Amino acid sequence: MTAGDGAPRQETIFTMEATPIKFGPGASADTGWELKRLGAERVMVVSDSGVIAAGITDKVRERIEAEGIETVVFDKVHVEPTAGSLQQAADFALDGEFDGFVGIGGGSSMDTAKVADLVSTHPAEIMDYVNPPVGEGRKPPSPLKPLVMVPTTAGTGSEATSVAVLDIPDQRLKTGISHRYLRPHQGIVDPDLTRSLPKAVTASCGLDVVCHAAESFISRPYDTRDRPESPDDRPPYQGSNPISDLWSAKALELGGRYLRRAVENPDDLEARGFMMLGASLAGVGFGSAGVHIPHACSYPIAAIKHEYQPEGYDVDEPLTPHGYSVIVTAPAAFRFTYQGDPDKHHKVAELLTGKPVEDGDENTLPDVLVDLMSQVGAPRGVRELGYEEDEIDDIVDGAMKQQRLLVIAPAEVGPNELAGIVRESMENW
Ligand SMILES: [Fe+2]
Repeated sequence: MTAGDGAPRQETIFTMEATPIKFGPGASADTGWELKRLGAERVMVVSDSGVIAAGITDKVRERIEAEGIETVVFDKVHVEPTAGSLQQAADFALDGEFDGFVGIGGGSSMDTAKVADLVSTHPAEIMDYVNPPVGEGRKPPSPLKPLVMVPTTAGTGSEATSVAVLDIPDQRLKTGISHRYLRPHQGIVDPDLTRSLPKAVTASCGLDVVCHAAESFISRPYDTRDRPESPDDRPPYQGSNPISDLWSAKALELGGRYLRRAVENPDDLEARGFMMLGASLAGVGFGSAGVHIPHACSYPIAAIKHEYQPEGYDVDEPLTPHGYSVIVTAPAAFRFTYQGDPDKHHKVAELLTGKPVEDGDENTLPDVLVDLMSQVGAPRGVRELGYEEDEIDDIVDGAMKQQRLLVIAPAEVGPNELAGIVRESMENW
């Protein structure tokens, strides 16, 4: 875009929005109080079978009903939701005539609750709301009904973001629905709820947190974008800005300090608590700035093949946990983006290790990430997730569809660059 004199008009504005978060051991007991405050009387509780079996859903539900609020549980959450599974939740929401929504669980339950609320408030086909070019990118015309999130994993940060991620199986890709109205009205983060998680879930979710924070911290600064014609066209992912950097930096510090401990000892409540806090902080940071190359590659990596058998995951079919699909390309992606802003890459390495970087180069941050990955038991690379070299092009095609993410990478990235990154990521060590 150009101004009248032909000079480009740069963006000069960034927006800071954050979900109100209530944090601390025992916080989930306030779920009913928060819903009442928001005016809900009949709520749809969205949860997956694992969380229900662990007794967590019922515990929170009791506290909601104690406030005189009616609850109905939807337990058909698909781990890694699909357009079909979200449609099922949306139909349930439309039939149930709810005036409030609660997601209790990991990202899949929370994202399903977001979409159930969206379709219940503004009925339409799921694909109408999905980000273009895959869907129509329709915008909800007004705010949604009260939406409260109670995460039970320290990962997605979905309680703090305006995005719901979904699989489109017939197109073998993952994409999202993103709009500021999908941002929950309240997040309730209770470290006591994560006690029962297996090690691999803690590791994968924690690595996702680290990537959210690192990608947003080094994303292309908001003021290097063109300024949109209308505030309506300002993207939810704005690029890094002085406020998102604060959230992302703190999340990196917590991830570097506590992830190894949380994975090693499931009873280390202090480490688990700080990882949950880190997940929410990173959610605010990336909800504002955005994520780019590792997340763009993660969607096809998780969607094309379902061969990986993660240890400790309670699922019937093989699946690639989101955090693992993201972290495998992160070292190579950050080696590539180093040229965009070397100082910020060094800073990420410093925050993760707690030590100053001397004589840093493009390998400094990738080396720090590879250390962390190997110590928490992550897969070594893309090959371990089921891919061979001749399948790199399929991953690149899928990643190229995530233009919404790729445009905020701090270095120009096209198919050749992505192919190079995925090739380097076949084995990270
Ligand atoms: Fe993520």
